[in-house]
Amino acid sequence: MKRIGISTGGGDAPGLNAVIRAVTLASIRRGWEVVGLLRGYGAFFDPSQIRILDRPAVRGTTHLGGTILGTRSGANPFERRVEQDDGSVVVEDLTEEAIAGFHRLGLDALVAVGGDGSMRLALKLHQHGIPVVGVPKTIDNDLAGTNVTFGFHTAVDVATAAIERLHSTADAHDRIFVVELMGRYAGWIALFAGVAATAQVILIPEIPYDMDEVCDHLMARERRGRRWAVVVAAEGARPVGGDFTWSKGVGGGPVERLGGVAERVAAEIHERTGKETRTVTLGHLQRGGQPIPYDRLIALRFGAAAVRQIEEGEFGVMVSLDPPTVRAVPLELAVSRMKSVPLEADVVATARDLGICLGE
Ligand code: F6P
Repeated sequence: MKRIGISTGGGDAPGLNAVIRAVTLASIRRGWEVVGLLRGYGAFFDPSQIRILDRPAVRGTTHLGGTILGTRSGANPFERRVEQDDGSVVVEDLTEEAIAGFHRLGLDALVAVGGDGSMRLALKLHQHGIPVVGVPKTIDNDLAGTNVTFGFHTAVDVATAAIERLHSTADAHDRIFVVELMGRYAGWIALFAGVAATAQVILIPEIPYDMDEVCDHLMARERRGRRWAVVVAAEGARPVGGDFTWSKGVGGGPVERLGGVAERVAAEIHERTGKETRTVTLGHLQRGGQPIPYDRLIALRFGAAAVRQIEEGEFGVMVSLDPPTVRAVPLELAVSRMKSVPLEADVVATARDLGICLGE
């Protein structure tokens, strides 16, 4: 009999509960016990922060958004920042404490569900002898080593519907809308949703934008009698030679947050074209709510595959979608680089061929 721990870390993504359910049911089927670590890795430091996952605990959860275990994004949970009397900050490494916490919980293996930050922590645990299997999650789809992360296609679905809804109101008022989508350092959501919903301009972090090109494109369209447009901007889009747009950080949470690129782009478009230009920021609407069936299925497949990895005793890996199958790749590969949109990707070429301006 094994005791399996499962944690969900970083920003949530639709499909987390489906992973938890698959890990739980596949483990119970093997006669193992599953322990959910609450809010990321809190249980390593406070053993009361767990929830035993039995059949009733995961019943009817496949389609639910969020995570029944809770999660935390931002600060590294294996570090403690201690402010000194002189105002300086000393960072204490809590890795050894975390490892002691893993053993205190009597765990035989850990399933770590998360994005790049969580996979880095998983690798660190593995290097310290903890048997760990990673499961790739992020709506941004920027994790290397897997064709796709669960949650991404749900975010694209939400964003596509939103962009499409703006077409009619933009048309009615002869306005330009700038829609800000998530995608910190990779423009997958903006590119996929923008192409699927026929945005007129798509700005992604991988292609720094030139505002002259954007405005020329919009004004050429205006001359053809199309007096409205939707511009999609990933939150990490930035001008040629310019910086990201950082959020003002109100409301607490992670301090270094991106946000506000839509306002920046809209102001410039208005200044140069004189057009009425409005903004919409979809934000966490892209992360909340039910996963679409595709994401549920990937999440269930990932969860079940993670348990099979544990059964085979193969650790230090992340389950990954390598169509048409799910396999495992070394965690090192997952954290080796960020998976940005390759400029030679056919979807980039498709956008250009459709006459969509990429700000270049
Ligand atoms: O990594 C996914 C993501 O959705 C990013 O696109 C976004 O910048 C970030 O999370 C926001 O995270 P939080 O909700 O912690 O501010």
